[in-house]
Amino acid sequence: MKESLRLYPPGWYMTRRALEDLELGGYRIPKGTTMVMNLWGLHRDPRYYAEPESFNPDRWTPEFTRSLPLLAYMPFGAGPRRCIGASFAQMEMLTVLAGIAQRFQWDLLPDQVVAPLFATTLRPLEGVKVVLRERDPEGRTTVGAAQGQFPAGRFSGTARHGRSSIRLGQPGNVGGALLAAPEWATTG
Ligand code: HEM
Repeated sequence: MKESLRLYPPGWYMTRRALEDLELGGYRIPKGTTMVMNLWGLHRDPRYYAEPESFNPDRWTPEFTRSLPLLAYMPFGAGPRRCIGASFAQMEMLTVLAGIAQRFQWDLLPDQVVAPLFATTLRPLEGVKVVLRERDPEGRTTVGAAQGQFPAGRFSGTARHGRSSIRLGQPGNVGGALLAAPEWATTG
């Protein structure tokens, strides 16, 4: 989760207004200027992260975390306006992911390029395509148990487990695989 929020911080920029004239990184910033902080860029800065483009959850050792400058990682912002929902959001992510992982095994569709969409929040332009396989009650995977649908530009379908289900957008048609966009996590 920590590494995902580093590479893909949903709040990928923040703005601040200068309350007084100041100099920052060699630039003169007049009072009243609105500044945009690029968290996407910050989180990929090689001064702080070795191989910054690699997804490497193992980098987050206690030593690495301790050595990281305070503001080199801030997916939830920092200071008095830090995200008020940070703890809730992390708990929610963990709960939803754990809940889904208990019921399904998921595998990324190979060879896909996940292009970022830099909107108000950062999103994958065309979703992230995964194949879900329903696990049986013993935790084994039942291949092909999930049904999936994939209309152009959208991922959708319904995964069922017992009486519960996860809905995924509008229906389309691809047999066998369940393809999910990230927003699916909120419908669990
Ligand atoms: C992964 C999920 C989330 C991320 C990455 C995120 C990120 C952020 C960031 C970067 C800021 C700072 C904006 C700034 O300083 O300009 C912020 C502020 C804020 N967030 Fe979140 N947020 C998340 C979830 C939530 C949730 C679940 C809630 C509410 C339950 C929430 C409520 C707020 C509020 C109210 C502020 C403004 C705080 C203030 O200005 O004093 N956020 N968030």
